[in-house]
Amino acid sequence: MVSHAIEVRNLYKIFGPRSADYVDAVKSGMSKAELNQKHGHVLGLSDINISMPAGGIMVVMGLSGSGKSTLIRHINRLIDPTAGEVLYDGVDVCRMNEKDLRQFRRHKTAMVFQKFALLPHRTVLENTVYGLEVQGVQSAEREKRAHQWIDRVGLAGFENHYPNQLSGGMQQRVGLARALTNDADILLMDEAFSALDPLIRVDMQTVLLDLQKELKKTIVFITHDLDEALRLGDKIAILRDGLVVQQGTGQEIVLNPADEYITAFVKEVNRGRVVNIETIMSPPAGEPEGLAIPRGTVLESVARQMTEAHQTKAHVVDEANRPIGAVTLSTVIAGMVSPIGHEQTAA
Ligand SMILES: Nc1ncnc2c1ncn2[C@@H]1O[C@H](COP(=O)(O)OP(=O)(O)OP(=O)(O)O)[C@@H](O)[C@H]1O
Ligand SMILES: [Mg+2]
Repeated sequence: MVSHAIEVRNLYKIFGPRSADYVDAVKSGMSKAELNQKHGHVLGLSDINISMPAGGIMVVMGLSGSGKSTLIRHINRLIDPTAGEVLYDGVDVCRMNEKDLRQFRRHKTAMVFQKFALLPHRTVLENTVYGLEVQGVQSAEREKRAHQWIDRVGLAGFENHYPNQLSGGMQQRVGLARALTNDADILLMDEAFSALDPLIRVDMQTVLLDLQKELKKTIVFITHDLDEALRLGDKIAILRDGLVVQQGTGQEIVLNPADEYITAFVKEVNRGRVVNIETIMSPPAGEPEGLAIPRGTVLESVARQMTEAHQTKAHVVDEANRPIGAVTLSTVIAGMVSPIGHEQTAA
């Protein structure tokens, strides 16, 4: 069973002086627009229920104003909910006393911001050790740890530079090193890569994915960008007007968008990079033919391997190398372009 580090349960946030008075109305279905027009209160979040996988990347996406930042700020309780729970390892963050909350924030969570939020008068090294300073870790120990992470994010040699001497991508590497130096279980990343140039942004995604392979942090990552969401997210939740309109794996969302809003989001997606081979394979029939392709391989990669090997047939194997299905090159290619995946190729 997947363990969940963070469970958000029945979470509501209404902004305004009498927020508690309107929870029932919102629970009975009052929309964000209605709440605003009738009562001048803003619906930030409504009935959010999300299990965030321990050691995985949870992506939250949605248009501007949909409630993404409001949600992530509940996790370290920079915002108090109007109703509901945020459980970390079974403990409700929203009910922690001040001391426990301080401990939780300092030791369990680290944030990476869009605008980097580096201290301009501090060097890379001094910025990186900041969290450990606050924790009261000794100087030799904190510098040792900081050096290690500065190295890991590719900034060795820049320890004594100041932020304004670095490019945006490098500054965000410092932001990441600073967060990792804290050694927190939970990384909260609110549009952390959104201010970067497209190529640098993809670089940073790669840095994060490489680190995550060994670190297995519980990461909550907010983005506007579907390609980024699909690349990073073990699980994705899509918000609109404070509501979760769909959650699931990237593939689930791309294959079965819940409504028109999400259909519009996923329309331009490169399906070949998202849909995996199990989705389109037919049951194994007779002796396995052609290339053996591991389950979980995305269609673009399957098509490339088959083309390079001059094969029109392939079979799919599980972790123990047992055949679990068969495909042809034409079904693979159809799956990359078809909006309804296997249903169409099966016809
Ligand atoms: N302190 C506040 N007081 C009143 N309304 C707020 C407050 N903070 C957020 N809101 C409102 O709550 C809603 C959600 O805002 P939030 O900042 O979470 O959106 P977001 O999805 O992060 O948007 P963006 O992509 O622009 O960062 C918006 O309608 C916003 O105006
Ligand atoms: Mg935001």
